[in-house]
Amino acid sequence: MHTSHFALNVLKSHPPKVAWCKKHQAGGKPLKDTIAIILAAGLGTRMKSSLPKALFRVAGLPLVCYPIKAALEAGVSHVTVVVGHQAELVKAEVTKYFPTAQIDFAMQEQQLGTAHATLCAAENAAPFKKALLMNGDLPLISANTIKALGEVYDQTGTTFALVTSRVADPGGFGRIERSPDGEVRQIVEKRDATPEQLAINEVNVGLYMAETASLYADLAKVGTSNQAAEFYFTDIVKMRTSKGERVGALVLGDASEAGQINNRAELSEVEAQILRSNAAMIMNLGVTIHLPETVYIETGCLVGSNSEIEPGVSIKAGTVIGSNCLISRGSVLTNARIGDGVTIKPYCVITDSEIKDFAIIGPFAHLRPQSVVGNHGHVGNFVEMKKSTLGEGSKVNHLSYIGDAQVGEKVNIGAGTITCNYDGINKNITVIESGAFIGSDTQLVAPVKVGKNSYVGAGTTVTKDVPDGALALSRVKQVNIENYAKKK
Ligand code: UD1
Ligand code: MG
Repeated sequence: MHTSHFALNVLKSHPPKVAWCKKHQAGGKPLKDTIAIILAAGLGTRMKSSLPKALFRVAGLPLVCYPIKAALEAGVSHVTVVVGHQAELVKAEVTKYFPTAQIDFAMQEQQLGTAHATLCAAENAAPFKKALLMNGDLPLISANTIKALGEVYDQTGTTFALVTSRVADPGGFGRIERSPDGEVRQIVEKRDATPEQLAINEVNVGLYMAETASLYADLAKVGTSNQAAEFYFTDIVKMRTSKGERVGALVLGDASEAGQINNRAELSEVEAQILRSNAAMIMNLGVTIHLPETVYIETGCLVGSNSEIEPGVSIKAGTVIGSNCLISRGSVLTNARIGDGVTIKPYCVITDSEIKDFAIIGPFAHLRPQSVVGNHGHVGNFVEMKKSTLGEGSKVNHLSYIGDAQVGEKVNIGAGTITCNYDGINKNITVIESGAFIGSDTQLVAPVKVGKNSYVGAGTTVTKDVPDGALALSRVKQVNIENYAKKK
């Protein structure tokens, strides 16, 4: 996995653009003439937060990104996200992750229920023959399940199909009531259910496929005569079956896909499930993860084959690691591009940065945003880098601060070297050209340039440019006072 094509400006953008859509498209035929409508306008009252539920981070990605990602992977023609509560914030986040014209938004000013939310997307839906309706709080639904729903819809010859799941604890889900012949008859919400209905353990997942025209005709007739006084999307089912129409149903093979997030406890359960599957996916690529239950890998991260990840490592959004790397215990990588054969020793923090092939980092190194370490570069103990480039084969191994610096190739930076990059007003640049040797305990007062193959003596304060091949020294001559101790 080669990462050398990543330019520095790529590293500025965090969070990264989501690139999965095309790459990981599920097999089978795409859902043609289908719009996905994702309901994400809700207040998320049960989360007890001012942050809209849609934007809660689940394994590093906002919750609403998951159904969008699954719908795009299933090959829908278009996605409309229904937004309401803090709409501008939700729109901005979605656009940041999916900057594609395939996605637009519909506004639900007041959150009057799931049927009302779907109605708000009527104009968006009109040009499409079919609609895939998804609750926005279902991050585990896979593209394959969406496709399977499409197949059930086609095979049953109906104009409406839904996904159900048999679960041990039906909790807050709507219950699926079937008639004696096994056909789905209606969905009963928990609040409106009789004790017998409450005991039903087949639940409504919150994922439906419908013919757009008849769906919208029916939605207009949904009322609010229920305990919550809301317009329930789920009323559609009874409306249809009481007219003798058949409703198609796909029962989830893997009930865990039904996990929805209504409160913080569900958030932690669902997230744990996603993290486990992220780690499993990475191991499947040929990566060794030691004690995977201690390793935190956010969604969308990739690791190349033969790499090894030690316990307690965090690999966060946007990180791509190459092949044959070792990521040692306790390191935290966020939006990092790591090349092939790289060794990250224990307890390094690397953010929005790039490490090229065969570099060695740490232990205890801190690479802040826009740092680039070239091939075979070394960044050692207690070294902090910020917005700096270290050229191929260059080394900064001990106790240094390298900020706003451009360091060429095969440069050796001695222990305790500090770039004095900030004058209280501006950040200034230090340039160290290839082949230079910087003695220990040097301060480079920027803006300043150290020329090719030059030397800076240990303990020097460099305030003037150093010409190519020169030796810079700024320390006062040493004086030895003989017999000083005796006299004292
Ligand atoms: C809903 C279903 C329930 C199902 C469950 C599974 C209804 C009436 N009930 O219940 O049968 O088992 O999902 O996931 O549909 N939303 C809006 N606008 C609104 C209300 C909700 O956009 O006015 C959005 C929410 O942001 C959320 C989704 O719709 O993403 C579902 O709403 P939520 O309140 O979570 O419904 P549940 O009570 O879980
Ligand atoms: Mg819900």
